[in-house]
Amino acid sequence: MHDLTAAPSHSDHNLFRSDVVDGLSCLQKTIPYRWLYDERGSDLFEEITRLEEYYPTRAETAILRARQPELREFAGPGPILIEYGAGAGVKTELMLGSLAEPRGYVPIDVAHEYLLQTAHRMERRFRSLWVRPVERDFLSAFEMPTDIPAGRRVGFFSGSTIGNLDAAEAEAFLLQMLRHVGPDGAAIVGVDLVKQVETLLRAYDDSEGVTAQFNLNLLARINRELGGDFHLDRFRHVARWNDSERAVEMHLISLTDQWASIGQRRFHFGEGETICTESSRKYDHERLGALAERAGWRVSQAWEDDKRLFSVFALSPRAARSPR
Ligand code: AVJ
Repeated sequence: MHDLTAAPSHSDHNLFRSDVVDGLSCLQKTIPYRWLYDERGSDLFEEITRLEEYYPTRAETAILRARQPELREFAGPGPILIEYGAGAGVKTELMLGSLAEPRGYVPIDVAHEYLLQTAHRMERRFRSLWVRPVERDFLSAFEMPTDIPAGRRVGFFSGSTIGNLDAAEAEAFLLQMLRHVGPDGAAIVGVDLVKQVETLLRAYDDSEGVTAQFNLNLLARINRELGGDFHLDRFRHVARWNDSERAVEMHLISLTDQWASIGQRRFHFGEGETICTESSRKYDHERLGALAERAGWRVSQAWEDDKRLFSVFALSPRAARSPR
């Protein structure tokens, strides 16, 4: 059995309450996106990735499939794959399958079930693979397990999860990943690209209403876990393009003038007032390169799908001893 690093971090009930109460007390009401991903939310997100309109997962998978030889060459022989936000691990198998005799796999995720499932699946699928799941929020500061086998460490951050992070968080994340893989390491980062606003908005407001369910589940979770009394039918899901942030934002818009309470706290919502629940930033090659540079990396290669919707970046430490 795997021994997991104990991590109270964000699964903590009190933290959920204070994040919600603080967030609903701001002028622009905002609830941190991480609370969208309870069990129901994670299942709904998996469903989103299979929607026709949600292109990122399909585009990224196509790139990883098409570039297997390049990825193999880039990572070199016997690498250790360190995956940040392992999720359901669909791309993991593709990635490990591309590598030349991968020696180790370190999935990092707060989603306990997904983490263990993915770890076990990779152990069965890749016979001689050393697997060590780490149950952590990859945005928190933490060290790599000390018993990782020798070999080049390759950080893997897929799904454009980097888009959830603001500039400071993204830089801190990339800096930590560099510390984890060391000066001889490497990284593979999947990034959603800036494109036509209509295409972007359709991906975040699908015709089947799955994304709407995903967003509204946050209010259901607040009711369930924090004793809230939100009426889900008095809010509606909206996706908005924030041009200055280059981000698609998910909001819950209040359909009436209303109050909602969480324990002793009451919150007023004007008609048309919104709660911002997720920000999904979009990049272009230059901006991602500049961000990577600030965090001690350089872009070694970048691959796009044929519609140029998505990009997979191969990053090398700027101070690498043998540049590749
Ligand atoms: C998991 C953060 C990459 O921003 O595209 C999908 C989450 N939210 N649809 C994204 C999401 C609504 C997704 N990330």
